[in-house]
Amino acid sequence: MTTPIHVLGFAGSLRKGSYNAALLRAASEILPASMTLEIFDLAPIPLYNADEEAAGFPEPVQRFKERIAAADALLIATPEYNYSVPGVLKNALDWASRPPAASTLSGKPMAMMGVGGRSGTIRAQLQLRQIALGTNLLPLNRPELAVAMGWEKFDAEGRLTDEATREQLGKLLVALADWTWRLRNV
Ligand SMILES: Cc1cc2nc3c(=O)[nH]c(=O)nc-3n(C[C@H](O)[C@H](O)[C@H](O)COP(=O)(O)O)c2cc1C
Repeated sequence: MTTPIHVLGFAGSLRKGSYNAALLRAASEILPASMTLEIFDLAPIPLYNADEEAAGFPEPVQRFKERIAAADALLIATPEYNYSVPGVLKNALDWASRPPAASTLSGKPMAMMGVGGRSGTIRAQLQLRQIALGTNLLPLNRPELAVAMGWEKFDAEGRLTDEATREQLGKLLVALADWTWRLRNV
């Protein structure tokens, strides 16, 4: 018997038809038996402001930090905006990294994935790896899941229709479970 792993997933896109949010939903349909996935909506998170932090974390940020703390691992679905991660995602990670001495991100296993245009978010994911370095998130290296031309992979209801992508997603989830167990025993 393996210990269950609770994963917190969030997408760096706020639009209703987001392919990245749809990829997270697809993940919840094919989870390994030992894994649960909770999806967090970043929409209520305000822009980072050190004055607000000093006055006390805004309620949506507090909730986000609590859900991260309760999770064994994170699953981040990032779009690519101008060769980088969207501000929505960077902003949420900036809040979660505060205060640095008690960052909820530090030491947390994390897997990333993304749906984008022709390059499939590879550049955004490299930027996310840089953010992981700054926040001491522990990103899974392989397999990479960069889904190119999202409009060909999902139907109008946001269901993942591409079997090859579903298979890769399944492998990523199994690898995240393995990575989380390994780090538990370090
Ligand atoms: C401001 C902006 C910049 C973008 N820059 C890139 C880019 O650099 N590379 C890319 O592949 N797609 C780029 N795109 C396209 C998005 O990756 C694409 O719309 C993607 O589907 C957004 O993710 P979502 O479906 O989860 O909302 C950009 C979109 C926006 C709005």
